[in-house]
Amino acid sequence: MQRTRFRLNGVATEVDADPDRSLLDILRGPLGLTGPHFGCGAGECGACNVILGDRAVASCDMPLWMVADKDVTTVEGLGNAEQPHPLQRAFIAEQALQCGYCVSGILMSAAALLKRNPDPTDSDVREALDRNLCRCGSHNRMVRAVLRAAAEMRAR
Ligand code: FES
Ligand code: FES
Repeated sequence: MQRTRFRLNGVATEVDADPDRSLLDILRGPLGLTGPHFGCGAGECGACNVILGDRAVASCDMPLWMVADKDVTTVEGLGNAEQPHPLQRAFIAEQALQCGYCVSGILMSAAALLKRNPDPTDSDVREALDRNLCRCGSHNRMVRAVLRAAAEMRAR
């Protein structure tokens, strides 16, 4: 057991756990955040993506020690039912999800992209979402949703 400190969704957080446990395991277990989903468990599907700094990363193959003293954002930190993020509104407006299992990870990849590039092209969005798998095949609507959210955020 070791104490690891980091900022989670803007809040100083500490957890006593084996630092080699995966960040996803810690988020969904002791920290009770079930937004990041377990898909492949091998860094291949993006269902578990969170934002570390300004990059989307797979939390399933990231050990807890790697986020010490860093900023981690999960989908719970993006928005909520009362105050949805523009991406969340746009995904609903474009009906960009079916089962929804992949969506929290996809939202985090998209949010990280918009942090780095507020005016992405269609191909920028496709490249940013390239590592996120969606077995329902909603990719084209998702790209439209990300472009819609980006336009809304620029117009603010
Ligand atoms: S569950 Fe982490 S990338 Fe698939
Ligand atoms: S909406 Fe079902 S896996 Fe993407």
